[in-house]
Amino acid sequence: MSLKLAYVGVEASRLDEWKRFGDLVGLQPVELPNALCLRMDEKARRFILTEGAADDHAFSGFEVDTAEEFDRAVEHLKQANIPFETGTSAGAELRAADRYVTFRDPEGLQHEIVFGCQDADTPFAPKEPMQGYVTGDEGLGHIAVNAKDYAACEAFFAKATGAGLSDHIFSNFGDSKVQVTFMHLNPRHHSIAYAQFPFETSRKIDHIMIEPVDLMDVLKAQARVAEAEIPITITLGEHPNDHAVSFYCTTPSGFRLEVAANCIKVQPGAWEPTSYDYFSMWGHRVAG
Ligand SMILES: [Fe+2]
Repeated sequence: MSLKLAYVGVEASRLDEWKRFGDLVGLQPVELPNALCLRMDEKARRFILTEGAADDHAFSGFEVDTAEEFDRAVEHLKQANIPFETGTSAGAELRAADRYVTFRDPEGLQHEIVFGCQDADTPFAPKEPMQGYVTGDEGLGHIAVNAKDYAACEAFFAKATGAGLSDHIFSNFGDSKVQVTFMHLNPRHHSIAYAQFPFETSRKIDHIMIEPVDLMDVLKAQARVAEAEIPITITLGEHPNDHAVSFYCTTPSGFRLEVAANCIKVQPGAWEPTSYDYFSMWGHRVAG
C-alpha cells in the first residue's frame, strides 16, 4: 500500500483572507460555489477550505493509485477493526475524487483513503510566478497535528495506513518535554507528525507544510508575507531530521503554514528511525 497526502480540508471562518493569503504564499486560489481551493500543481484540489467557525483541520486525504489498491486499503481497515464510513457523492465532488472512506485517529481527526483525485482543467498558475512544488509521489507536503498521546497516535496511524516511523524529536520544554513522532508513507520524510506538548493547544492542527522546488521561492514567499505584515511565527531555519529549510507563518485560521525546501527523502522499508533532542540546526527563532 503506497499512500500520499492528496489534500487537506480546513473549516475556515475567513475565506476572503485565505484567498489573499494563498496568493501571497504562492498558491492559486480557485473559488467553488461551496468552497475555496488552493492549488499547487496540476491537481484540482490540494487545500479545500469550507466556511465554518472551527478554523481547524476538517479532514486529510491519503491517495492510492489504483481501484485495486483502494479496495485493499479498505479491506485493511476492516481487518484492523478500524471503524470507517464510505464517503458521499457530494463529498467526492467537493474533493474532485472518485471514491473515499473516512476514519478517525485517537485525537478525533478525520483521515481519508481516497482514489481518483482529478487534475484541473487548466495549468497551475499562481499570481506570483514560481518554480512549482514537490508533490507527485510525495503528496502535497505534511500535516503536523497536536496529540494528547503521541505514542497512541503513532501506533494507530501505523496500523491504519502502514506508515513507517521516520524519527522522534524529544525536546525539553521547561521541566517538561515536547514529544513528536514523524511518519512516512512514501519518499517524503514525513507526511504526518503528531506532537505532544506539555500544555493544552487550541487547535487540532499545528501546521501544514508545503515544499517549493526552489529554495529561492521560500525566501520570496517569506519576504511577501513579511511585507504584508502577516506574523512569521518561526523564522528561517533548518530542522535536523528532514533538513527542511523553512519558515512558519500564521494562516487566516490561526494555525501555521510551514514553507520549506531542501527536504531529504527516505526509502520506505529501509529507513532506520532515530531520535533528536532539538528542533533546529540553525535559525528557527520563535517569535514572541
Ligand atoms: Fe513541519
